[in-house]
Amino acid sequence: MATYSQILGTGSYLPVKIVTNYDLEKMLDTSHDWIVERTGIRQRHIAAEHETALMMAECATHQALTAADITPSHIDMIIVATTTPEKLYPSTACLLQQRLGVAGCPAFDLNSTACAGFIYAFSIADQYIRSGTVKTVLVIGSEVMSRVVDWQDRATCVLFGDGAGAVILGAQNKPGVLSTHLHADGTYGDVLAVPIGVGKPVAQYTYMTMKGNQLFKIAVNILGQLFDETLTVNGIHKSEVDWLVPHQANMRIIHGMAKKLAMPLDRVAITLDEQGNTSAASIPLALDKAVRDGRIQRGQLLLLEGFGGGLTWGSALVRY
Ligand code: UT7
Repeated sequence: MATYSQILGTGSYLPVKIVTNYDLEKMLDTSHDWIVERTGIRQRHIAAEHETALMMAECATHQALTAADITPSHIDMIIVATTTPEKLYPSTACLLQQRLGVAGCPAFDLNSTACAGFIYAFSIADQYIRSGTVKTVLVIGSEVMSRVVDWQDRATCVLFGDGAGAVILGAQNKPGVLSTHLHADGTYGDVLAVPIGVGKPVAQYTYMTMKGNQLFKIAVNILGQLFDETLTVNGIHKSEVDWLVPHQANMRIIHGMAKKLAMPLDRVAITLDEQGNTSAASIPLALDKAVRDGRIQRGQLLLLEGFGGGLTWGSALVRY
């Protein structure tokens, strides 16, 4: 009998501190109206010193474990998608494994898949479960984006927020995850980058650089193709999709994608207005919110999509 992966439970963590657009108006040459009109963002959560990628990942994990009704001892693999890890190594996943007390299982970070990191991690977890290698995988997106944006650069800092989302995928004999689709195009590497690297003088390269307008146009194009690919591979018409769970980068992109699927906005899991762009954490955060408040129900068909630096992008079609 074929093995599939199923979402067993979800969890999340958001930093306590909220920074509104009005707060940013006091620090930068920007306005609430510009940010809302161009992005849809109204506020974002910003991490305090103790709210690190590890700390937030751990909190989200405990929620997900409770939701899945399992203990850490059931976890066979840990994957943390983060562009803002605790250290180059040990990985955030290994640090988390130590805190969970489950030494022995594979644990690793996906660092450079940026905002598509969660989809990449989710896809890897799904492949390992389908192959029968493991039964239960903890998949996390955890980001402190506030520490890689230049707070003097209004074109980027207003867009991002911090947080973590966790999903537990487990083996079962009916789908589950129907398919995942991953892509990358290094030609567009300079469109979105945090160019710090080993051996580079730090000050010059620490912060994110983004060609927002170009990225916007590429995103709309590649996401449209990605939806077509995902639906075609599964022989599914867009009307069968119950929920779009998108990466939360820009409300105009999200609206465009909903339109492509002919989907009303109340069928799109949106957190952008309250959380900003939390990079690899944005999809599991949006998923967890819609699951917890009862909007997403068991048996419904979900389309998850993400895109980010690299460029990287990907999707997952999931029977929840
Ligand atoms: O998660 C990874 C994926 N990320 C994305 O996909 C982001 C995609 N891109 C976007 O979401 C949009 O391009 C942005 C929201 C980043 C920018 O919106 P835009 O409509 O593309 O604006 P723009 O960059 O073309 O800038 C328009 C104007 C410029 O002024 P001038 O040159 O027309 O005088 C900017 O300097 O808006 C100005 N501007 C701002 N004004 C007030 C840029 N940032 C701000 C700001 N407040 N925060």
